[in-house]
Amino acid sequence: MTPTETRIGLRISGEVKAFQRVPLGVEGLDEIIGGGIPAGDILLVSGMPGSGRTTLAFQFLYYGCTKYGDPGIFVAVDEKPDSVRSRMSHFGWNVASLERKGALIFADAYARVAKVPSIEEREVAVDDVVAFLTDLFAYVEEIAAHRVVIDSVSTLLAIWGSNEGERRSAASQLCASLRETGLTTLMTAEALPGRISRFGIEEYVADDVIVLHSVKSADGLSTRRMMEIVKLKGYAHPLTMVPYRIEHGRGIVVVPPRAAREELLRERIERIRRRIRGF
Ligand SMILES: Nc1ncnc2c1ncn2[C@@H]1O[C@H](COP(=O)(O)OP(=O)(O)OP(=O)(O)O)[C@@H](O)[C@H]1O
Ligand SMILES: [Mg+2]
Repeated sequence: MTPTETRIGLRISGEVKAFQRVPLGVEGLDEIIGGGIPAGDILLVSGMPGSGRTTLAFQFLYYGCTKYGDPGIFVAVDEKPDSVRSRMSHFGWNVASLERKGALIFADAYARVAKVPSIEEREVAVDDVVAFLTDLFAYVEEIAAHRVVIDSVSTLLAIWGSNEGERRSAASQLCASLRETGLTTLMTAEALPGRISRFGIEEYVADDVIVLHSVKSADGLSTRRMMEIVKLKGYAHPLTMVPYRIEHGRGIVVVPPRAAREELLRERIERIRRRIRGF
């Protein structure tokens, strides 16, 4: 692909090679999906509250910088950048050092969403899609970003449209402009019971979709975190759910299918033992 210019004026140099993969930086997951998602794609990561969406999104940028040399932008929509910074630093990730180098930056859309003053160097307007992208693309140019996170797109769609038609049109415009740039984007979405996303639009406009589930055990006494790869456009991928954990120092870690089966077996043996012992 040759350098392109979008409708609202972003010009990014460099080439996006067809079939090039962008690793997500999630242990166990990149192996399952053949090395990563296709370069230039828009990946939607959806899940219920506390499922790990922000962690996975941040990890995509953090390891993008530290392992693959890709500068990235985290657009904080649902919470203050400072709150994301401190939570991610608690994982043991050196967020401050990447920010100092200008390899990873936070853009504050939350202030405009919540109508509160921002303490951040970089703000993003949320009035409409064009205003949002104009600010975002200025930051993309500033650090020559390759990766972008929008956390979450569901909140933006709620602002950009008061009915399904308006929201769909805004979502399509957002994704079309992002695709033109060649950036690889991860957007998060809010899932609702029995639905992948809040508006039922987010998963259709994205190229790739991963859903983070919380699955109750048969006895209802415990839950397991399970990841579902719903769509990976143009590529084969497993249709089964894969277990994942959220760990200090590593973030989201996908348990390889064989290890997962062994873990399940150990849990079953333990449950039977407890039943036999009577507690
Ligand atoms: N330092 C940590 N080590 C291990 N697990 C953690 C750590 N910090 C948070 N977690 C786990 O991560 C989960 C929250 O992750 P995250 O904020 O990424 O989820 P989310 O889906 O974005 O949630 P929200 O609904 O708040 O947007 C918590 O439920 C907690 O179990
Ligand atoms: Mg979150």
